[in-house]
Formats: sequence, C-alpha cells, structure tokens
Amino acid sequence: MRPTNRPRNPCFSSGPCAKRPGWTLDGLAGAALGRSHRSAAGKAKLAELIERTRAVLGIPADYRLGIVPASDTGAFELALWSLLGPRGVDAFAWESFGETWIADIAGQLKLADVRTFEALYGRLPDLGRAAPDRDIVFAWNGTTSGVRVPHADWIAGDRSGLTLCDATSAAFAMDLPWPKLDVATWSWQKALGGEAQHGMVALSPRAVERLTSHKPPWPMPKIFRLIQDGALIEGVFRGETINTPSMLAVEDHLDALKWAERIGGLPALIARSEANLRAIEEWVARTPWIDFLAEDAATRSCTSVCLKVSDSALPKKLAALLEAEDVAYDIDAYRHAPPGLRIWAGATIETDDLHRLFPWLDWAFAQVTAS
Ligand SMILES: Cc1ncc(COP(=O)(O)O)c(C=O)c1O
Repeated sequence: MRPTNRPRNPCFSSGPCAKRPGWTLDGLAGAALGRSHRSAAGKAKLAELIERTRAVLGIPADYRLGIVPASDTGAFELALWSLLGPRGVDAFAWESFGETWIADIAGQLKLADVRTFEALYGRLPDLGRAAPDRDIVFAWNGTTSGVRVPHADWIAGDRSGLTLCDATSAAFAMDLPWPKLDVATWSWQKALGGEAQHGMVALSPRAVERLTSHKPPWPMPKIFRLIQDGALIEGVFRGETINTPSMLAVEDHLDALKWAERIGGLPALIARSEANLRAIEEWVARTPWIDFLAEDAATRSCTSVCLKVSDSALPKKLAALLEAEDVAYDIDAYRHAPPGLRIWAGATIETDDLHRLFPWLDWAFAQVTAS
C-alpha cells in the first residue's frame, strides 16, 4: 500500500543536515548583515557563538575554542598541519574521512613515523594499539560507514602524545569525553543543522603548549596560522576569525544553539539522536532486506546511520524514488562507501518523521523489486 503520510521534513542528508524543528528564515532577522565581522557588533556575535557552544558542549574552561576557516576540513587540517611532527603518529581509519586524514599525514605532510590502523567499512580497527606516547588521529564517528567509537577507554588518561579527533558528526549528538581529547573539530553544517561555512576547533592546554613550542618545518598558509611571533593568536578564540565569516551563517548557528539550550542542552540532543537510532533499529529488525553496515551494535552511529542491502543496484533506485516522492532527500550511501542507504538521525530529526519514513521505504522496496 502506498503510504499517505510523508515525513514533515524530508531532509535526511548527512550534511548539510536538517534544520532544527521550527526553523524559519525569519528567525535570523537579528543577523549583523552588512556589518564588518570586526565591528563591535560582529565580534560580539562571534564571541557569543563561541561561549554558547562551549556551554552546550560542556567544553572545559581551560580549553581554547575558536572559529576557523573552511568548515571541518579546514579545522582538522589546520590541526594536523600545526601540531603534527614532533612525535610519532598513530592514525586510525575505518571509512572515507579517516582515510583522507591518513592521506594528508602520509602523502602531504610526509611524516616519517606514522603507524596506520585501518578497517573495512562496517568495522573498527584495533583501537587498543594506540600508544600513549604518540599522537593519535581519528574521527569519533565515521560518517560514511555509520561506525563510531563506543568510548574513549583506549585513550590513556596520562598520555604524553596528543589526541586529534575529527568530531564533526559526533559533536551535539554524542558524549565527547573532553579530558581524552586534546583537539576536537567540527563544522556548523552538521548535527545542529547549520550552514556550511566555518569550522570550530577546541584545544586542550597541552595542545596549546605544542602549538607554541613546535614550529612546523613546512610553510603555513594564512588560514592555518594560529601562532604569531611564537605566541598564540588569542583573538581567534574570542571571535576574531582569521578570514571573513558569513554573519548570516553565524546567526543561523546562534539560532540552533539557542534551540539546543531551550530543549535541555546536550543531554536532550543526545537523547533525541539515540531515540532516532532506536527507531531505525526497530524498523531494521522487522525488515528482512536491510541491515546495519556496522557489524557491532555497540559501534552503531546515532547520527549517520548506514544501512546495507544485498542488491547493490537497489539503493540508488530507492533513493531516487523517495526523492521524487518528496519523502526523503539524499539518503543514498556516500559515494566511496559500499552501496546502501544513509539516514541522518541527529537531534534535528524528529523521530515521528522516521516513523513516517519507514512505510515509504517498505513501499519503495516493493515498487523497485516488482519492476
Ligand atoms: C567525519 C567527517 N570529517 C570531515 C567532514 C568534512 O566536513 P566539511 O565538509 O564540513 O569540511 C565530514 C563531512 O561530512 C565528516 O563527516
């Protein structure tokens, strides 16, 4: 039977992600449009964004938190380029983004002492191999495989190396243990449904110590530079961004942060996302033609939920049919991932919209396999 109720919001893309429930363009009316981001009004907006982010994510007061260019890619590459070199590196990858960072470390920075630990889509590498005296590079949530690290017990509390964590599809949906993370990065366009624009970087005191004591041997482009005359450029962490941000994107992220505060902060964001994962788990359990790509249930992502099917031609057909029906946009698997569906389940997604989506998925499967 063709379902009658469509999801109220068909945006299930894994980035940019769905706007928060109730979002309207009118909500951005207070944006500092046409103003310099270096004016008092502009800087106040940027500083407010940093402080609201710090409060919602529970980032320790002694961590620096900054807005940096080029979304999460810029933020994470800035960290790799600025910090790596003095120690050996243990890099973990289990999907496309982790592999990208390994390619940067080995192929671009050409570091001599790099150990790589990789796993196929659906699995985690042996995280227990991480050495406490080496720098550790990993993504908390593998957005393209739907596999996340279940905890940070494998990171030593008394390590001497730094941990560099790409947290872009984990922040605002998963509990990030700050004492275990020396560097964490994410982008506005992910779990709070912001606009693709700047990224954010959180730095522990030890990461700052490395920044100020280590001078990379390679040239540093302006958009990566956090150090001037041997000292940290503190302004970056007060909202004096390196290059010009869109004040509309800033206002939009402020709107999302205020929504997060209103609904109960990080615990509420995590609860919404985990409830969405549970809803998908229930549907998968009663649906014979689909399964999780993540082999271990403890590693299933609650944001980028990746599902596999046995017929590799199926996902594209399903995704196209559901898009044409305005039921679900952008749910085909990532281009480098095994064929399947990827459904964003972060906090901006309403569980009720997932319940509305499931009958359509069942219907689309029946349509596509009948023809
Ligand atoms: C884990 C991870 N790293 C990096 C990126 C790249 O982020 P951006 O496009 O915001 O630079 C993404 C985006 O999907 C991601 O999920």
